[in-house]
Amino acid sequence: MTSATATAHPNIALVKYWGKRDSDLNLPATGSLSMTLDIFPTTTTVTVDDAADGDVLVFGGVMRSDGPAQRVTRFLDLVRQLAGSDRFARVETANTVPSAAGLASSASGFAALALAASAAYGLDLDVPALSRLARRGSGSASRSIIPGFAVWHAGDDDTTSFAEPLDAPDLAMVVAMVEKREKPVSSREAMRRTILTSPYYRAWVESTAETLDAAVLACADGDVDRLGRITEVNALRMHALIQSCDPPIRYLTPVSVEIFDRVAALRESGVGAWATADAGPNVVVLTRPDDVPAVTAALSGLAELAVARPGPAAALTGRAHG
Ligand code: DP6
Repeated sequence: MTSATATAHPNIALVKYWGKRDSDLNLPATGSLSMTLDIFPTTTTVTVDDAADGDVLVFGGVMRSDGPAQRVTRFLDLVRQLAGSDRFARVETANTVPSAAGLASSASGFAALALAASAAYGLDLDVPALSRLARRGSGSASRSIIPGFAVWHAGDDDTTSFAEPLDAPDLAMVVAMVEKREKPVSSREAMRRTILTSPYYRAWVESTAETLDAAVLACADGDVDRLGRITEVNALRMHALIQSCDPPIRYLTPVSVEIFDRVAALRESGVGAWATADAGPNVVVLTRPDDVPAVTAALSGLAELAVARPGPAAALTGRAHG
């Protein structure tokens, strides 16, 4: 038996990934830009077992055989193919972020799994190859391999679509956890519906490609205000796009909208703060580290808050041969 343990952190996109041009290879319609957080890690141990007659998934201490287990087995099939192995594995994983609440648990989950599984199966992948592998599990996971800020390139094909580090100004995020229950429509299903039914999808793809270039430039210039404005506009465009599906999907709740309004009021009072939200009701506020107290004060009473700074790369924390 060989086992490997890895940790990875969630990331929050400033320029969102929403839409695939190839769902088998999980190639995105556009590139995206994110910050990996220093909170809410996922820890995953993969044990390759000669004697096992199937993969086993233990998620937060509970043995699973439903959807998540099938997704993990499909992912392990990719790793086995790369490693030339036909052995099964036991995967034990635990999140410290509420699962499926729109707080990127699939990003930290598949980043940790990519690293632990590749090590347990004896693969020695460089960072771009790991990012590509994580991408196959969940697109946003490609970015959780990278510390701090990352750009995931749309790429031309499987070999060129991976995330890379990006220098960015000093920033913090205040995570407002509006709801912790599972979201009603998964981001995967919502993306599929968007592509099939929204008349705005093409405009989203075209404008987001331009938005990404502008965001990369704002990072290079160290221009926090410009990056913040880009972040909020891009998030609201994504949510407008999602609401334009048929049947429509709306992830933001009245409390989420109230948070966007309070952040706008903060800006009126001179504090640099900009809101974003993934495919769920939680809102994340981008701000300068010095302005975190002003942001938390403005949001107090609306939601449970957590403060994040740029976090570490996905890392191997243990290996064992038995
Ligand atoms: C709204 O990475 O979860 O968080 O590739 O289908 O697994 P799949 O999708 P996923 O989608 C994330 C969408 C988002 C935006 C983002 O993180 O860029």
